[in-house]
Amino acid sequence: MSLYESSKVLIRLQRSVLSVPGSNPDMMEKAAGSEADCVLLDCEDSVAPDKKSQARRNIISALNEIDWKKAGKTVSVRINGPQSRQMQRDVCKIIEKAGNHIDTFLIPKVGTPEDVHAVEKLLAIALPTSGITRRVGLECLIETALGLVNVEAIARLSVTGSRLEALHFGMADFSANCQSRTLEIGETDHLWYPSLQRMLVACRAYGLRAIDGPYGDFRNLQGYVNVARGVAAMGYEGKWAIHPAQIELANQVMSPTDAEVQKARKILNALDQAQSSGQGVASLDGKMIDAASGKMAANIISKSLAIAEKDSA
Ligand code: GLV
Ligand code: MG
Repeated sequence: MSLYESSKVLIRLQRSVLSVPGSNPDMMEKAAGSEADCVLLDCEDSVAPDKKSQARRNIISALNEIDWKKAGKTVSVRINGPQSRQMQRDVCKIIEKAGNHIDTFLIPKVGTPEDVHAVEKLLAIALPTSGITRRVGLECLIETALGLVNVEAIARLSVTGSRLEALHFGMADFSANCQSRTLEIGETDHLWYPSLQRMLVACRAYGLRAIDGPYGDFRNLQGYVNVARGVAAMGYEGKWAIHPAQIELANQVMSPTDAEVQKARKILNALDQAQSSGQGVASLDGKMIDAASGKMAANIISKSLAIAEKDSA
């Protein structure tokens, strides 16, 4: 074991991230009543260029008027990207008018650590100016070749005092930026397994949550489940929903099953017994288990406890 070991920056349940265009206030109200763990109010690509100001105003109203905490939601706002003139306005206006009601900003198209620093600097001015003492976290979308090339340096910000708590993989922009021969959003995920894996490892090295992005064909529920299962097996802990029908599927796939929880408990019990008789390894159902099995089991148990806590709140 390395002398350096990351622990999670912040534990939040983020199995499903429901993306809602900022230009659609009706959907925000509905999102609050949904089963999504996290609601993402969007200022960026789902909003037409001439609707940006109105979208920002809608988001500010929704942050102030809806009781997101009571609804059990993490509420996040996707701002416009670092190269856009809108980004500064998004951060400053939203903090000034609704800074007490937002959990995180999601920064799209992050290419380098400097893109994150730019938002950190805006927050360092906007938060005290508006008298906001609430912790406002940051999440980044890795969705360009440059972002992936720098993903380790971006993730590493979390151990150098940044507000960063999660990275999301944005398959649509990533496909476009890599000039991949696809016109679908998120359906060709197997093409991107090496990239998804690279982002996941960067997250795990530095204690961040790893979230998978959108799946465009919202009528193909089985396709969504297949993609979600693939990334969940890799270690991703959440996936976007761009349609209400995807929310429950994300929650299901990203939650341990009862059988997994039972098996995890059996592993921990068997290892306890082995340890009390001086053994490091044990045999369970005809298979060898050891300390690493214990860590895998502990991951399952801690996720199931977090879900039970949310369900009972
Ligand atoms: C999300 O923003 C994506 O580009 O997939
Ligand atoms: Mg995108």
